[in-house]
Amino acid sequence: MLQVKNIVKRFGDKEAVRGVSLEVGRGESFGLLGPNGAGKSTTISIICGLLRPDQGEVIVGGHSVAEEPVKAKRVMGVVPQDIALYPTLSARENLAFWGSLYDLSGRELQSRMDEALEIVSLTDRQKDRINTYSGGMKRRINVAAALLHRPQLLIMDEPTVGIDPQSRNNILETVRRLNQEKSMTVLYTSHYMEEVEYLCQRLAIIDHGQVIARGSLDEVRHLVGTDATIRLKIANPDEALVAASADVPGVRQARADEGALVALVSDAAAVLSPLMATVAGQGKKVTGIEVQEPNLEAVFLHLTGRALRD
Ligand SMILES: Nc1ncnc2c1ncn2[C@@H]1O[C@H](COP(=O)(O)OP(=O)(O)O)[C@@H](O)[C@H]1O
Ligand SMILES: [Mg+2]
Repeated sequence: MLQVKNIVKRFGDKEAVRGVSLEVGRGESFGLLGPNGAGKSTTISIICGLLRPDQGEVIVGGHSVAEEPVKAKRVMGVVPQDIALYPTLSARENLAFWGSLYDLSGRELQSRMDEALEIVSLTDRQKDRINTYSGGMKRRINVAAALLHRPQLLIMDEPTVGIDPQSRNNILETVRRLNQEKSMTVLYTSHYMEEVEYLCQRLAIIDHGQVIARGSLDEVRHLVGTDATIRLKIANPDEALVAASADVPGVRQARADEGALVALVSDAAAVLSPLMATVAGQGKKVTGIEVQEPNLEAVFLHLTGRALRD
């Protein structure tokens, strides 16, 4: 559905995108995760044909964005970071404007607007002027506008930044539903690792204009060998218990810690029951279990020495 081939973009002597390649398959939900200034929006603008790359090319649904821009743009629905709506017009009037840009009119336009408003749960507010909307509701209208022409590929640039939790949930659920139930292909950029973990099957982590990690969610989580942590609440973990636990296959490291046995493991699901059996064999009682899987934040920190949110 989307091929981004080695794109480069310079602004003066600043290289915002330094050879990014991405492939997103039909029906997939792909995350582009990176901190502020990583080059996400520049990459998205190039994919949408709003910016011309200095090098490289983008193919969308089989169409080159540079050579067949009209065909390529029909395939995509884009939700940009900045809101572009007419404040004194109603939500529905704004949508009608966007629909006309895609040559929608008459009954078809009306039914597409009904459908899009329904998807973002703003049917009951459609006649209100946009300047009475919260930031989050405006963002949802942007999502609706991107859906009017029933795109095959939905592209979203940090759609939940700076909005209320209710609208944030609405957008996340909408995207997930469109991907899972309607098989819409999604390219979702964010600097929130939880969003990418919730929405995406595959992802690329981008930093300073370059992809520094890519793969399935699980592959990337385990890329730097970050282990899962199992924490078993035990009243008096002693040295014999720690030594026996460290010998359980799959346990990389075990230690006692404030009324708990903490084990670093490669595969928590596989290790949990033999570990529990070993603990029972030592005559200890487990009163609580906590499993912490490695997350994308830890991977980013490991690769760059910085936190994603910085
Ligand atoms: N129009 C522009 N002119 C000059 N520099 C830009 C422009 N757009 C983006 N940049 C710079 O390129 C880098 C990447 O920006 P951007 O793609 O917006 O990152 P992100 O969306 O990941 O936060 C940043 O250092 C930013 O300051
Ligand atoms: Mg951005």
